[in-house]
Amino acid sequence: MKSKIRKGIILAGGSGTRLYPLTAGITKQLLPVYDKPMIYYPLSTLMSLDMRDILIISTPSDLPQLATLLGDGSRIGINLCYAAQAEPHGIPQAFEIGADFIGGENVSLILGDNIFGGLDQIEAGLAGFDCGGMIFGHRVSNPSRYGVVEVDSAGKPISIEEKPDHPKSDFAVTGLYFYDPRVVQMTRSLKPSARGELEISDLNRVWLDEGELRLVRFDDRQVWFDVGTPESMLRAARYVASFADDGVLLGSIEITALRQGFIDRGQLQCLVDGMPTCRYKEQLVSVGINADS
Ligand code: G1P
Repeated sequence: MKSKIRKGIILAGGSGTRLYPLTAGITKQLLPVYDKPMIYYPLSTLMSLDMRDILIISTPSDLPQLATLLGDGSRIGINLCYAAQAEPHGIPQAFEIGADFIGGENVSLILGDNIFGGLDQIEAGLAGFDCGGMIFGHRVSNPSRYGVVEVDSAGKPISIEEKPDHPKSDFAVTGLYFYDPRVVQMTRSLKPSARGELEISDLNRVWLDEGELRLVRFDDRQVWFDVGTPESMLRAARYVASFADDGVLLGSIEITALRQGFIDRGQLQCLVDGMPTCRYKEQLVSVGINADS
């Protein structure tokens, strides 16, 4: 299936204060989640949704390291570009920074610390996406930490609040968003919140007020981690490790590129040849190169 959205943005910003001192010398998105840098997971999610034009936004000081890790994407058959968020003015700022990249097309945004296990429900949402905005809700035990979406009896979103003290539901809005290109103008109309940032929940409320926001409520087969704390990093690492034990490489950008047809087995072999001896290399060989197709 060809994706209805070709372009994706990964916002790999933030100071990662909840992970201090892990983040004192390195950006959160380069920290490991089991055997891969964190950013591999959201990148492989966008690639799995058939998005090949991807903009990575981060702080000016972190961008060079991210670019060293990922390059221009050509080795895995995608186009990666980079842009700086000089000041942390909130998640929606990604659409102002990325306005030229978006260039009048639909766009997806994924936060660099969000890990999704399972794609079926996201793909079903994407298949039904034409225009407007689409968000994905996941039931959580601690909704006050997130954007929270309230739904009516038909499951339609009726309110969205950012980190409310008294949440109206236990559905967190996950860090994956689909929008049509009007998102750039809508972002420009937002006012900063009390903490001086543009809030993604305010942006989603604009779409909601226009009657153009759709919500996909994940059922309990969907796995989702916001790896913003040491505990959630550990839980996510255990989840990834449990699959690796069975020879499934969650978040492998090389395997995702092969599955999506962005590269062929010969190109994967070249990538593998350039890697030092390590378990990841062995797994790429057995999963990607030796596996029956
Ligand atoms: C951000 C958003 C929040 C969303 C969450 C998902 O919060 O502001 O609405 O629910 O990501 O990961 P943060 O985790 O950056 O505090």
